[in-house]
Amino acid sequence: MAAGPAGGLFPTVSAFPEELAAHVASYRNTAEHNERVHREFTAAAAAEPLLNDHRRHIEQHKLGYGDAAFHAMWKILLLAAHQRFGRVDALEVGVFKGQVISLWALLAKTHGWPVRVHAITPLEGQALPSSRWWSSLKFRLLPRYRERVRSGGFYPDDDYEGIMRTLFAHFGLDFSDVRLVRGYSSEPAVRAALQGDRFHLVYVDGDHTYDGAAGDVRLFGPKVVAGGWLVMDDAAFDLPGSTFWKGYEPVARACALLPGLGFTNVLNVGHNRVFEKVR
Ligand SMILES: C[S@@+](CC[C@H](N)C(=O)[O-])C[C@H]1O[C@@H](n2cnc3c(N)ncnc32)[C@H](O)[C@@H]1O
Repeated sequence: MAAGPAGGLFPTVSAFPEELAAHVASYRNTAEHNERVHREFTAAAAAEPLLNDHRRHIEQHKLGYGDAAFHAMWKILLLAAHQRFGRVDALEVGVFKGQVISLWALLAKTHGWPVRVHAITPLEGQALPSSRWWSSLKFRLLPRYRERVRSGGFYPDDDYEGIMRTLFAHFGLDFSDVRLVRGYSSEPAVRAALQGDRFHLVYVDGDHTYDGAAGDVRLFGPKVVAGGWLVMDDAAFDLPGSTFWKGYEPVARACALLPGLGFTNVLNVGHNRVFEKVR
């Protein structure tokens, strides 16, 4: 790996730009370009020790989902948010074991970017019924249950908060700096807790059914400031390209609500779709 240019954020990976604007300007929603973006972001994440070490730790300890490419995307987005807004309020909806919030905290600490990390997550599993008979009966009879199964909406019971604390400690990060809102984004108490909040960056990765994803788009879209970004995970189902996981059809369908809320789809990295609020 070649050494990076002085002051550069990424080591030289075939001149991989560190500015979001460069990726947006060259973005084309074609199979060839989507596959190239995914490939180049994956390479950029592997080439930078901080991103690579963090992602390898996540993979080795099974602490998260998604692709390594997203690590490079988050670095570019956090930098862009810091350059545009100075102090950054970043929210993740659906945290699981803390992969993304720990990455944000690590990037912020390493680069001296003032980032306040907000997180909404239930800190509990949504386990599949233990009886296969009961589960398959529900699958046949209940369309919403069927949609949940098909969109991967089940997580084992675990000590999610304890796992996150250990992850933060491993990277020398202070978990108490995170504003953790425990619960589901659909719950009135969670919505009330966030009533007056505005964010520069929102990552929607919670409920992947249509009602869940659309509810999050409708709730959090208006909370993104003008010029900020909302990233939808698992949302590339209807995009061209075949070398990356495309996500779920209901989440992709929910993305269709975003233009009506003032967002433009400016970049897609695998199944992570980046929407900028332009008005
Ligand atoms: C796919 S995982 C998130 C993965 C994580 N973003 C990552 O990159 O590793 C989805 C998480 O969302 C949580 N979840 C499900 N529905 C939710 C909701 N309505 N609000 C907040 N979190 C939700 C689940 O408990 C699970 O922890």
